[in-house]
Amino acid sequence: MSGLANQVVAIVGGSSGIGRESALLFATQGTQTLLIARGRERLRESVDEIRANGGKAQEFPADITSPDEVIQLANQIRSQFGRVDVLIYGAAEFYLSPVEMMDCGLAKHAMEVNYWGAVNVTKSFLPLIRNGERKTIVFISSLSVPCTPPFFAAYAATKHALRGLALSLRQELKPEGIRVQMITPGPVDTPLIENYLHRGMYRLPPGIPVLQPRITAKQIYKAVIQRKQDVVVPKRMGWAARLAYAFPSLVESYYRLSVPDWSQSIQTQIEKHKHRKHRTLEPHPTFVQSNSTVTTSEPEE
Ligand SMILES: NC(=O)c1ccc[n+]([C@@H]2O[C@H](COP(=O)([O-])OP(=O)(O)OC[C@H]3O[C@@H](n4cnc5c(N)ncnc54)[C@H](OP(=O)(O)O)[C@@H]3O)[C@@H](O)[C@H]2O)c1
Repeated sequence: MSGLANQVVAIVGGSSGIGRESALLFATQGTQTLLIARGRERLRESVDEIRANGGKAQEFPADITSPDEVIQLANQIRSQFGRVDVLIYGAAEFYLSPVEMMDCGLAKHAMEVNYWGAVNVTKSFLPLIRNGERKTIVFISSLSVPCTPPFFAAYAATKHALRGLALSLRQELKPEGIRVQMITPGPVDTPLIENYLHRGMYRLPPGIPVLQPRITAKQIYKAVIQRKQDVVVPKRMGWAARLAYAFPSLVESYYRLSVPDWSQSIQTQIEKHKHRKHRTLEPHPTFVQSNSTVTTSEPEE
C-alpha cells in the first residue's frame, strides 16, 4: 500500500471516465474515496464496484454548478469525515462548434461546469483541505490548452480559465503547504467525447494517441504520490505542450501539414453547421437545471 491508506480522497466527476477509474484505483490503495457527480445511478454503480473489491467508498450526489449544493456537500463531508486529504476536480462538459455558429447557451454551460464548478468546489472545500494531511488539489486540464485545434473555442476556453484558476491558486496556497497540481491529458476514450472523436470537427493528426481512462487515472495517482505540479499525459506529449506554449503557430502548421485536406475539411464543417438544427437540452435525470433555456446541437454524424 502507498502512503494514501485511510486518506480521504474526494473525486468530483467520480461516476464516469477518468474520475471513475481514478476512484477505483485510489480505493485499491486503502483510501476513503468520496465520489461526487449528479447522476445517482452511475455513482452507486461505481461505489458498489469499489466496495465489491474490498475498498471504501461513498457517493455524494450534487450539481457542482450550484454554490448552495456545493456548500451543503462540503458540510455533509465535514460532519462525516472532518477533512479532505486529496481533492480531484474532473467534472466537465464538452462542446465543439465553429465560433460563428456557437450555441452560447451550451458554451456557457460548459464554462459553468468546467470553470465555475471548480471555483465553487475550491471555495467550499478549502477548509476541509486545510484539515487534511496531504493537502492536495488536482485539476484535470486538457491538451487543448497548449494545442488548441479549430472548433475547440468553447471547450478550450473553459480549460484556459481553469488553468488561470490553478496557477493563481497555487501561489495563494503555497504558504499554507497546500499543493495545487494540474494534469493535462490528450484525448481519452470516455463518454465525454464519444460523440465527437474522429468525426468532422475532431480529427486527430498523426502521433496523437487516444488514451484509455485507466492509463490517465494511473498518471493522476502517480502525480499525487510524487507530488508533481504539472503532468502531461501521455508523458511524451509533454514536449509538444511546452513547444506549443512557446510557439502557438506550430500547432496550426502541424495540423495543416499533417492532416490531409485540413483547410478543406474546416470549410466543410463550417458549411455543415450553417444548416444544423438545434434541440432543447433535456434536464438532467437527477437535477433539473436552473438554466432550462440551454440548447444543444445534434450529435456529430
Ligand atoms: N475525455 C477526454 O478526451 C479528456 C481529455 C482531456 C481532459 N479531459 C478532462 O478530464 C476530466 C474527466 O473527463 P472524462 O472524459 O472522464 O468525462 P466523463 O466521462 O464525461 O465524466 C464527467 C464527469 O463529470 C460529472 N459532471 C458533469 N457535470 C456535472 C455537474 N454539473 N455536477 C457534478 N458532476 C458533473 C459527470 O457525472 P454526471 O453527469 O452524472 O453529473 C461525470 O462523472 C474532465 O475535466 C475533462 O475535461 C478529458
